Amino acid sequence: MSVEPTKIAMTEFTNTNLATLLSEEQIQERIAEIGAEITREYTGKDLVLVGVLKGSCVFMADLMRAIDLPLTIDFMAVSSYKDENRSSGDVEILKDLSKPIRDKHVIIVEDIVDTGLTLSRLLEILGSRGAASIKLASFLDKPEPRIKKELKIDYTGFVIPNEFVVGYGLDWAGRFRNLPFVAVVKNPAAYQLS
Ligand code: IMP
Ligand code: MG
Repeated sequence: MSVEPTKIAMTEFTNTNLATLLSEEQIQERIAEIGAEITREYTGKDLVLVGVLKGSCVFMADLMRAIDLPLTIDFMAVSSYKDENRSSGDVEILKDLSKPIRDKHVIIVEDIVDTGLTLSRLLEILGSRGAASIKLASFLDKPEPRIKKELKIDYTGFVIPNEFVVGYGLDWAGRFRNLPFVAVVKNPAAYQLS
């Protein structure tokens, strides 16, 4: 008689190669706080949230629903060139804003600040367009690898250790953006980079 091997239920969300770092509840609680803070500080101002694709899409969707103000949203897509996996600071605009930001109060919405090179360059680019103000909101802040030490993040979701994380918009080779939580990939070698 043959014995069936035990089947381990492993879906994308219960993948045993992931160690949860931030739960869905923790994330939602923190976003409500940031949303309330932005609501207080931007009352009466012409606010536009600029999401940096693709990583910020989940944070953007939750953050804007936590801001109880009239606002508009726009998106940019950039690619940062990486040398030996390190961001080089060269940023190519793949998709620009759909409307001018002159005289608007802008909050750039990012998934994570690592070296800070991408966001510094983006600030230079958007800084020349006559906005009334530009601030930064980043879901995650990984300060250890920071090269641009002077970069000021105005609204930070969570400060995390120097580990590669996925979920809640952040990917590993395009995968895991749909996780409702943030996790560390225990064994990245298990996945093929595309
Ligand atoms: P940097 O700040 O210029 O080094 O680049 C930040 C970008 O690198 C982010 O917007 C992410 O797309 C990516 N990145 C950095 N750290 C992580 C991580 O832990 N998980 C997923 N993507 C990351
Ligand atoms: Mg990004």
